[in-house]
Amino acid sequence: MADFISGFWNLYVAGLIAFGLLFCLVVLITNMTSQGGGEPKLQGHVWDENLREYNNPLPRWWLYLFWGTVIFAFLYLYLYPGFGTWRSGSAQSGLRGEYAKEVKLASEEYGPIFNKYLGTDLAALSADPEAVATGKRLFLTYCSQCHGSAAKGAKGKDYGFPDLSDSDWLYGGDPATIKASIEDGRGGVMTPFGGTLNSEQIRDVANYVRSIAGLNADAARAARGRDVFASNCTVCHGPEGKGARSMGEAFAALGAPDLTDGIWLYSESEDAIIDGVTRGRNAGPGSVINAMPAWKDYLGDAKVHILAAYVHSLNNKK
Ligand code: HEC
Ligand code: HEC
Repeated sequence: MADFISGFWNLYVAGLIAFGLLFCLVVLITNMTSQGGGEPKLQGHVWDENLREYNNPLPRWWLYLFWGTVIFAFLYLYLYPGFGTWRSGSAQSGLRGEYAKEVKLASEEYGPIFNKYLGTDLAALSADPEAVATGKRLFLTYCSQCHGSAAKGAKGKDYGFPDLSDSDWLYGGDPATIKASIEDGRGGVMTPFGGTLNSEQIRDVANYVRSIAGLNADAARAARGRDVFASNCTVCHGPEGKGARSMGEAFAALGAPDLTDGIWLYSESEDAIIDGVTRGRNAGPGSVINAMPAWKDYLGDAKVHILAAYVHSLNNKK
């Protein structure tokens, strides 16, 4: 799993550190100049009538200490993580090595607890209380930051973490699709329309979207928005706005939500819809990045299997 959803923060952190270290080096090197022998020069200024100051170089011991800290910083950044997401050290040395050793020990000790479920079919596993309880603990550790501790999700103008307990799915709620969502991650792409539609058209289509969801909308705008929708949005959201999955399983991977069901991934306010249509979603710089990380490599097959059973279990009890 990547440490940051957007690559920008990696560059930001690494840039700040590089700048800080370079700055220290420049300060040190420009202060290295020795006196060049002879009488030390006086600074120009005078205080309290006769108090003057020599322009002496920094004391050597102090300067060496300073050099020491800079060299330490380079060594530290080589051995331990700190420079953005750059993988420090080698797989055996430093923190990475220690971490790898601990992971190995832990998987030898705890691996069997998770591995014993791998052979069980997901639908059966989601009815096994012990597996579901294990899945819930895993969920609280790895998933609750975004989806909430009760898996109810969270929504706003710039983020949409889906409710995983409401039997309404972007990609699909059968066990295999849930598992695929967790393994490989998801990031539904919506084209930004800021460049192709003008602001009136976008406001019209936003009102149309609100009208098909049963929310109050400006009737004249909604009527005009219907045509904008038909020519720009139906490829992904379907001819009636019922979402990609309504067009058949072949379209499910698009992840475009049903806009008519009253369940919102993001905020349903007119402004939020206008903003989303203008900027797009997961469509590169300027658009809203709202992605589900891939967990296959980080958690391994056994834990993903249990998590899929847990998420499935949230939806099959009535
Ligand atoms: C960084 C935030 C984040 C974390 C952590 C996260 N998710 Fe997600 N998840 C999302 C987002 C955002 C989506 C919707 C992706 C999209 O819209 O394309 C999503 C979608 C999903 C879906 C698909 C839902 C559907 O309607 O088809 C499942 C299943 C899921 N997550 C399960 C999990 C599990 C299990 C974990 C823990 C291992 C987890 N998520 C951790 C952000 C997150
Ligand atoms: C390329 C496919 C695609 C096209 C074209 C597209 N959308 Fe989307 N739309 C998506 C996806 C995928 C999402 C979910 C984004 C996410 O997962 O974060 C979405 C999300 C939305 C949402 C948020 C729904 C919610 O539940 O919060 C609205 C509203 C929306 N689209 C309206 C439109 C309108 C209006 C148009 C046409 C002007 C349009 N879309 C065109 C794929 C598309």
